[in-house]
Amino acid sequence: MTTTPLAERTTTVAARATELSKVYGQGETQVVALDRVSVDFRQAEFTAIMGPSGSGKSTLMHCVAGLDSFSSGSVRIGETELGSLKDKQLTKLRRDKIGFIFQAFNLLPTLTALENITLPMDIAGRKPDKDWLHKVIEMVGLADRLSHRPSELSGGQQQRVAVARALASRPDIIFGDEPTGNLDSRSGAEVLGFLRNSVRELGQTVVMVTHDPVAAAYADRVIFLADGRVVDEVHAPTADAVLDRMKRFDAKGRTS
Ligand SMILES: Nc1ncnc2c1ncn2[C@@H]1O[C@H](COP(=O)(O)OP(=O)(O)OP(=O)(O)O)[C@@H](O)[C@H]1O
Ligand SMILES: [Mg+2]
Repeated sequence: MTTTPLAERTTTVAARATELSKVYGQGETQVVALDRVSVDFRQAEFTAIMGPSGSGKSTLMHCVAGLDSFSSGSVRIGETELGSLKDKQLTKLRRDKIGFIFQAFNLLPTLTALENITLPMDIAGRKPDKDWLHKVIEMVGLADRLSHRPSELSGGQQQRVAVARALASRPDIIFGDEPTGNLDSRSGAEVLGFLRNSVRELGQTVVMVTHDPVAAAYADRVIFLADGRVVDEVHAPTADAVLDRMKRFDAKGRTS
């Protein structure tokens, strides 16, 4: 009986792209950034997206997160088709259901760490769930830094504020575009640990773009993009397994 929630967790889809294409420009200068990509991001799963520069990773993330329009195909967040939404509804869905962690932390310099963490909810006029907020702050280890401004925090601490901000409103899914790209390896490892814990302990769904096989190894699975297509997938990745796949794609790229 106790196994039912786990079974549900593995089958519930937090976000889904179906035959998703994104074309930039037209004619001679046309770039197919995404070429009929179909992928599921399951609830309480940590997915890393990898692939060479220009392979479409950021484009895929932006389209699935409702930050960018797409040319054809469809995107679903939970049960909601993004294509069916008007701008206002899309903005609301982004605000209520999606969390973002960007490489530049996007913290407001005049606000304290705590104010930065609760800012999206303050804007949305929502009261944070106190217990949840406490849990998130404890998890990212910021309890004694809450009244500091970003300039008084280290890069790793600032990124942890950004992680806490994404987690605070309990979004259905969190997207990060190289969220640890600017951090030294120790701070990066910490942030990745928090992301993984949020998936394991809090049932959070996380999708992260990364170039780093070590970072990808924190995920439950890695999907590989090349030329706007999903070309491979690794489950329970190790850094070595990821590196091995990357080498194979490089070799293919050179010979084809
Ligand atoms: N606004 C745009 N106008 C035209 N082409 C674009 C635009 N944004 C992205 N592209 C092109 O789409 C393709 C995919 O870009 P994308 O940013 O998704 O790559 P990426 O995998 O995130 O690369 P990186 O690892 O360098 O961040 C690239 O060929 C890029 O040049
Ligand atoms: Mg990118």
